[in-house]
Amino acid sequence: MKYLFIPALLLALASCKNAAENDKEEGQIQLHQETQQEQNNQTSESAEFAEGKAIYTQYCVTCHQANGSGVPNLNPPLQETEYVLGDKERLIGIVLNGANEGLEVKGKTYSNSMPPFNYLKDEEIAAVLSYVRNNFGNEAEAISATEVKAVRESQEK
Ligand code: HEC
Repeated sequence: MKYLFIPALLLALASCKNAAENDKEEGQIQLHQETQQEQNNQTSESAEFAEGKAIYTQYCVTCHQANGSGVPNLNPPLQETEYVLGDKERLIGIVLNGANEGLEVKGKTYSNSMPPFNYLKDEEIAAVLSYVRNNFGNEAEAISATEVKAVRESQEK
């Protein structure tokens, strides 16, 4: 009886150990999946950031400069201005229509004029504005293509 009992105990112990290892493995797989998910999110965020930067470099940098400082008396800065951080519709409108009205930006006005960028896609305008709103010391909610589309449509009416 004693000798029968020992193998049964060993068997029971062994199956316990297997169960524990399976649990551990499952845990690791899940952890791995979560990390993968996080990485995917980061990739799509940084892809939009990269797109925004590319559009900024192509269309905006000549006037507003790589660091968003603008050019004194000519082009206003994009660093923590009320237009960049403020109302999204107004900001989208400036990029769609350009501006030539002598906007007062941080107490100063600028003599150059900004051309309209209505030929850019909703996604492109969203990407460049999200980039501007989270760069040059700015911290504001991103802008979506849907929001750009809505402003564009409201102006077409
Ligand atoms: C040819 C030069 C030029 C280009 C190119 C240009 N801007 Fe401007 N931008 C200006 C000027 C000048 C003003 C001010 C216009 C006014 O006073 O009416 C301005 C105003 C602005 C403003 C509002 C004021 C502020 O500084 O917060 C924003 C935001 C802005 N531009 C973003 C952009 C973005 C984004 C692009 C690229 C898609 C761009 N601009 C391209 C010249 C330019």
